[in-house]
Amino acid sequence: CGIVGYVGSRPATPILLEGLHRLEYRGYDSAGLAVAARGRLKVTKAAVRVDELRDLVEENQPSPVGIAHTRWATHGEPTDANAHPHVDGAKRIAVVHNGIIENSGRLRERLAAQGVTFASETDTEALAHLIGAALADGAESLEDAVRATLREVNGAYGIVVLDAQNPGQLVVARNGSPIVLGIGDGEMFVASDVAALVRYTQRVVYLDDGELATITADDFVTSTLQAHRTAKTPTTVDLDDADYQLGSYANFMHKEIWEQPESVRRTLLGRLDERFGTARLGGINLDARALRAIRRVKFFGCGSAYYAGQLGANLVEEWARLPADAEPASELRYRNPVVEEDTLYVAISQSGETADTLAAVQELKRKGGQVIGMVNTVGSAIARECGSGTFLHAGPEVSVASTKAYTNMGVCFAMLALALGRVRDLSVSDGARIVAGLDSLPSLIVEVLGAENEISAVAKEHSGAERMFFIGRTRGWPVAREGAQKLKEISYVHAEAYQAGELKHGPLALIEPAMPSVVIVPDDELLAKNIGTIEQIKARGGPVIAVTNADLPDGLADSVIQVPRSEPELDPILFTIPLQVFAYHLAHHLGRDIDKPRNLAKSVTVE
Ligand code: G6P
Repeated sequence: CGIVGYVGSRPATPILLEGLHRLEYRGYDSAGLAVAARGRLKVTKAAVRVDELRDLVEENQPSPVGIAHTRWATHGEPTDANAHPHVDGAKRIAVVHNGIIENSGRLRERLAAQGVTFASETDTEALAHLIGAALADGAESLEDAVRATLREVNGAYGIVVLDAQNPGQLVVARNGSPIVLGIGDGEMFVASDVAALVRYTQRVVYLDDGELATITADDFVTSTLQAHRTAKTPTTVDLDDADYQLGSYANFMHKEIWEQPESVRRTLLGRLDERFGTARLGGINLDARALRAIRRVKFFGCGSAYYAGQLGANLVEEWARLPADAEPASELRYRNPVVEEDTLYVAISQSGETADTLAAVQELKRKGGQVIGMVNTVGSAIARECGSGTFLHAGPEVSVASTKAYTNMGVCFAMLALALGRVRDLSVSDGARIVAGLDSLPSLIVEVLGAENEISAVAKEHSGAERMFFIGRTRGWPVAREGAQKLKEISYVHAEAYQAGELKHGPLALIEPAMPSVVIVPDDELLAKNIGTIEQIKARGGPVIAVTNADLPDGLADSVIQVPRSEPELDPILFTIPLQVFAYHLAHHLGRDIDKPRNLAKSVTVE
């Protein structure tokens, strides 16, 4: 979900709509906004996209204060009534909220017993009623009323509260769901993501969990839930509005696919050491001895970040000969993991806000685990919680389906694996070979993207398929998983990834002419095995799309997507890119809404 708020001297509505537009990738089930005029709230909300909300509001509304929201449904279906903002019975208080209030059932029951009638099924509405009641009961300020309410609440929230009778201020609070203040000149902004702010200001303040703030046009005051004042120093974000604009691209996924040569170059910048064949990751405070003391590496994240972690684990095993694996963050946090002192835990996240990943970091830290972050978003909760780590430097990623952040994860893991390898048995010459391989990745990506038309033709040819397999082994396995993920996310074609060797142990039963298989075939020591896999599929009448950098025998595969050669260990990074292009074009042929696939959100700040 996305939150925006404004208090200043300009009409709030256009600013709120513009902010929502920038945040729409964080949820797009419904949208709404509230402004205050002459002591009354004016709320417009519906189960519509932001563009349609624009048609519903009075843009010439002069109110210089307001709050707005774009929703990804958790409690209650995406309906007009469930859209935010939510208001209290007296229609004095409006609230927008990200997160989940866990005890909302009990709170709603209590309010209902007091005669409150609810207009929605949301957990958020209870907050509006409670804040309204606290004010009616004589709370001295809106902030006090919000504080009193939040003390009764269990769960995660980022909220912004508007009181129609105190229109010179907004009260915001954060616990587990991001809130950023944007400091303007005689005006103040608030949002759940800097994306909504950078058009207006680069000076920001990130609230911490358990913090509240009262913001007015000229000032902000922060404090804790216990009413202790906190001191905050504004920081400057190194982003501007151009980073969030489409330019000549049809959508953000296409733009971000094409940004990869540049974003890989950016993340490599200053981190490779050609002379010693290693990488320097400045944000990781581990010297050679500390790196040598690590006995195991565990990567964790969600979705594409988890699949990228598998790619990273393979690299650590290959180069550092350390046991390494990857696990979904949601599993890690709940299964009471054995936490070892000499394991390096690597938290992976594009947004830096994913609730499951953040909670896994906190759980590991609580048990004394050594956690570093590999995060794209500077200032995000996971980056701050980890304390040390490496920023991915992919730049803002807007499309729900991750592309450039995924690739930069792979590149950063390669640098980590190289650094771990070079304090062990990886030779300087092997290190130098890998450094050169990393260095040439951007130009190889340009080559992959040069074949976009051919890949699009293959995608079109297979766009009638209702299901597909993605098959890979060892290095090709994370590639297959991420390839399947991309396809299902944006095209809604059922895609399943399988290890090549496992195919014969069950899934081969599904092979038939209507079930194409995308087979990952790097030209490495397993080439013959992978050719054997293709033959097994062909023998059962299954169409095969081979993604390869080998010269495959003519006629072996029905379609071939040719990938340039890189260092074999880096193949998984490069091979994923044609699969992004394949998924993109297949979804495009099917007419899908590529940047906003149904049911998904870019950053999932709830469990
Ligand atoms: C969501 C997105 C996925 C993403 C995952 C992890 O589910 O839809 O594309 O891979 O979250 O996000 P993160 O920001 O932590 O990398």
